[in-house]
Amino acid sequence: MGHPGIKGFFRAAAGILSYPQDPRSFAQVFGSLTSAHYTRGRITHVRRETPDTVTLFFTAGEGWIPHRAGQWARIGVEVDGKRIWRPYSISAPEHGDPSITVKAQGLVSEHIVERAAPGNVLYLERPEGQFLLPDTPTELLFMVAGSGITPVMSMLRTLMPRRPDHDVVLVYVSRSRESCIFHDEILELADQFPGLRPVFWFTEERGRLDASDADALAELCPDHADRVTYASGPDSFVSAVEDLSRSHGGPPVVERFDVTRQFSGGQRGEVWFTRSEMTLEVGPDETILEAAERAQHQLPHGCRMGICHSCLVPLTDGAVTNIRTGELHREPGPVQTCVTRPAPHAAFDA
Ligand code: FES
Repeated sequence: MGHPGIKGFFRAAAGILSYPQDPRSFAQVFGSLTSAHYTRGRITHVRRETPDTVTLFFTAGEGWIPHRAGQWARIGVEVDGKRIWRPYSISAPEHGDPSITVKAQGLVSEHIVERAAPGNVLYLERPEGQFLLPDTPTELLFMVAGSGITPVMSMLRTLMPRRPDHDVVLVYVSRSRESCIFHDEILELADQFPGLRPVFWFTEERGRLDASDADALAELCPDHADRVTYASGPDSFVSAVEDLSRSHGGPPVVERFDVTRQFSGGQRGEVWFTRSEMTLEVGPDETILEAAERAQHQLPHGCRMGICHSCLVPLTDGAVTNIRTGELHREPGPVQTCVTRPAPHAAFDA
């Protein structure tokens, strides 16, 4: 797969992931792929990256479509006997077995970080996303914060061996050296490929980096305005990079790892799913999708960040508010449940 030095950090599984107990049952899982609804993968290694982050290396069964560097996939894991899907960026380079790097944030990710082990089975959907390397060589600037390094690591692992003289600056913001995912591997890559220049920014030591400040960025990357910029990380960080890039012409290629929520008033709301005849209370800080999941009511979803439109459900009555923009939406028709709340009542054909 091309990953240097996979070190073992293995913890015993406690049944959190679907986990065939012996080789025969595993063979049955893989043997049934042609009739199975979803492609399956089997974890081969678990590597601890930081105290709260692990990488799962896995082999994917028949039906898996090889990823491109920078893409993500929905991964299904079984938690307390229930399969739950979440999107994860793929950290492995192209042309090899996939891996995902998971930080313990939220129910599913915490279970993975605590309990994933070799032999566990994952359920896989096809890789998606347009956060991709450019088709032609060019000078690049990666602006990365926190877990935003995950798809960028796939890009660096793919790009640097393929074009060793490529000119790449990586500005990587993390809280501390200890929480900096892939820190040592990035330094090794830079040793091996002089075209890669990493700049680490630890906020515990240097405070917040204002990614919209051209002067601050010029100290880290003097020719930043001449480079094709990629931004990956929390919404506020990516938006700051977008603001700066707008002032000198080219919009960056972006990947967001969360949504900045503009909840108004902190009020509860109510949703009515007409087909399943179910009423659902939506908490003051919840989206419709989150409230449905809490009530174990399945709604379609993908990225969970308002990007992919997999979560569209027809609004038939009432109104919803977009949690990012605060916009009110009353027109009957498809609504993204991952970024909306009832205002204060909404009915859906679902
Ligand atoms: S899940 Fe992707 S837009 Fe809602």
